Amino acid sequence: MAIEKTLSIVKPNSTLDNNIGNIMAVFEKNGLRISGAKFARLSKEKAEGFYIEHKERPFFGELVNFMTSGPVMLIVLEGENAVAKNRELMGATNPANAAEGTIRKLYAKSVGENSVHGSDSATAAEREIAYFFERNEVMNRF
Ligand code: CMP
Repeated sequence: MAIEKTLSIVKPNSTLDNNIGNIMAVFEKNGLRISGAKFARLSKEKAEGFYIEHKERPFFGELVNFMTSGPVMLIVLEGENAVAKNRELMGATNPANAAEGTIRKLYAKSVGENSVHGSDSATAAEREIAYFFERNEVMNRF
């Protein structure tokens, strides 16, 4: 399996709950390396553009409000099978359905305030990383 990169976003509920380090530790303890990272406050326009595929969903406004309500940690993860590995570590979108030990089971509050975002495919990861990072801000760690 090739080395991949994927994007993780530590969402405002988890930055405000002091869980940035705990979440990064889950990645590092499970074979993913941090290849880029930025602490940021997203503008409404930046959050809307990121989630453009959800524009017609009833929760779009709520999602954008939440993602701009506080700081986020944008993280590029690198590793073998990184997209799937990150999704496994996050757990189900709705924390009520997330497996024991996953990030969302440990730290999420609800389907909206679900602690982390993770790219859902290698194609999405490429787009999402380029949306937040310049090329020279991402390292190759493997
Ligand atoms: P994320 O992986 O960031 O991608 C889209 C987000 O929409 C998802 O995580 C959830 O946080 C959010 N979402 C999905 N369903 C709902 C919902 N019913 N209400 C609020 N937010 C939702």
